[in-house]
Amino acid sequence: MSVTQRSPRAGVIGYPISHSKSPIIHGAWLQRYGVQGEYTAIEVRPEKLESFLRNASREGFVGVNATIPHKEAALALADEVTPLARRIGAANTISFEGDRILADNTDAFGFLENLKDGAPNWRADSGPAVVLGAGGAARAVVAALIDAGAPELRLANRTRSRAETLAMDIGGPISVIDWPVAAEAMDGAATIVNTTSLGMKGQPPLEIDLSAAPDDALATDIVYVPLITPFLERAQARGLRIVDGLGMLLHQARPGFERWFGRTPEVDDELRHLVLGEGG
Ligand code: ATR
Repeated sequence: MSVTQRSPRAGVIGYPISHSKSPIIHGAWLQRYGVQGEYTAIEVRPEKLESFLRNASREGFVGVNATIPHKEAALALADEVTPLARRIGAANTISFEGDRILADNTDAFGFLENLKDGAPNWRADSGPAVVLGAGGAARAVVAALIDAGAPELRLANRTRSRAETLAMDIGGPISVIDWPVAAEAMDGAATIVNTTSLGMKGQPPLEIDLSAAPDDALATDIVYVPLITPFLERAQARGLRIVDGLGMLLHQARPGFERWFGRTPEVDDELRHLVLGEGG
């Protein structure tokens, strides 16, 4: 059959999909490494997700990234789910092997690799972590920090019950903090992460007092538009080390590319500039 002879296809599925940066990232790697393959943005309506995933292999797809609103549904439809994806409750990297659908989550990996890249001396086990927000992205961040050895994780979310559910699902030394007193949780913190949508272009800023944070704490944001969010500006003004959120997006793409196209891709400044629309 001609399909089996085609070069491998991959892509990103979402609804809507036009904002996804994944085609830029994978496209740059395909070109850089001279890989015969394709990676495209594919709009898949929620009601079409199951038929898309079931037919993908026959259409020549080796895998897809899943983005909003498919991350949870893709997990539920998969034949095999990695323990980490199950714990996070969402899949962003789907592979097709024969007629089997395999679901993984690489957001936790992307989060940690970004910190290793941006702050090589940073260690999760050097002290308590503070995580602000308990939405979808927070689940991967919390799992990453706990698994990397954070001795204590202080989780604050506007809606407290959501933080409590997250803490139960992920497990580990997590204490839930009330949102209005989150600033107190900065005392002794080694790592401070914004996972809320506050500070994103068009959203109000995250206004949190960082004065109680130790001088050597690291602050990072999962928001990357703008690259330096008001929260990171605040952290910088306080003298803390900061790592922006773009690298999480770039690094989470690596395992999928490697699995689908057989090359270990690199994240570098050229790719960062390309994704920011500053060159290439
Ligand atoms: P994502 O999947 O990107 O994390 P999400 O699930 O909608 O998106 O979560 C958004 C996060 O930002 C949540 O933690 C949300 O808090 P609630 O759970 O209370 O909704 C947080 N957030 C959004 N707007 C906020 C605001 N104005 N003040 C405080 N937190 C806010």
